Amino acid sequence: MSIVLKNISKKYENKILFENINLEIDSGEFITIVGKSGIGKSTLLSIIGSFEKVDDGEVIFNEKSVKKPDRNRIIVFQTFDQLLPWKTVRENIEFPLIHTNSNGLDIEKLLDELDLKSVENLYPHQLSGGMKQRVAIGRSIITKPQVLLMDEPFGSLDVGTRQNLQRLVLFLWKEYNITIVFVTHDVSEAVLLGNRIWILNESEIIEIENPIMRPRDQMAANYQMFVGELIKNIK
Ligand SMILES: Nc1ncnc2c1ncn2[C@@H]1O[C@H](COP(=O)(O)OP(=O)(O)OP(=O)(O)O)[C@@H](O)[C@H]1O
Ligand SMILES: [Mg+2]
Repeated sequence: MSIVLKNISKKYENKILFENINLEIDSGEFITIVGKSGIGKSTLLSIIGSFEKVDDGEVIFNEKSVKKPDRNRIIVFQTFDQLLPWKTVRENIEFPLIHTNSNGLDIEKLLDELDLKSVENLYPHQLSGGMKQRVAIGRSIITKPQVLLMDEPFGSLDVGTRQNLQRLVLFLWKEYNITIVFVTHDVSEAVLLGNRIWILNESEIIEIENPIMRPRDQMAANYQMFVGELIKNIK
């Protein structure tokens, strides 16, 4: 698996978001994207998934130029209203399989891993925000996509729930060998999760290898120093 963004340019009306950017994502990477509000993080994620058109340049996925979304690049949004209200937890997770002939992940195992077994017959309106996001994640990976694109998926959750979901995403990343590109406002979250961090600034994208060894201790001095360094580079 590989994704190459080649000489990508993108503007909305008169606002230039990207000019001739070149980026690469390799198989199994966990990339986190940070940058101030309105800088273009969601737009970049949509470009990687071919949900948004580019003005110039190419998105190359597994050596082929791509222009449309496909089932190997799935996006998870921040909002909690991505589920089908008339379907249960289990049915929501299984839903994407209805339209494919291929086998998905083992639903029983996945329900267990997502800690949703006890609520599998409930409907979305009966769930907490954290549960809804776990269902959304389950639904996104059931078809075994190669790449998961996550746009601030834990932005409006409380600290404890957020920590549980961070642990869950790291577990699923390793268990299913998915490549993840994850947008967040939270620099500490970016350091906790990512192998590499992309800082989006107005005139440049800074790529930084994450030097902190896993499992990462958010209280450790080197962790906090690295978070501080990154914050200094967000312009
Ligand atoms: N469909 C669109 N049409 C016109 N302008 C748009 C469109 N989508 C985004 N923009 C503009 O492009 C810029 C980047 O938006 P984007 O949503 O990518 O930022 P972001 O970094 O994700 O911000 P946030 O952190 O607030 O989510 C913003 O100025 C936004 O108003
Ligand atoms: Mg955004």
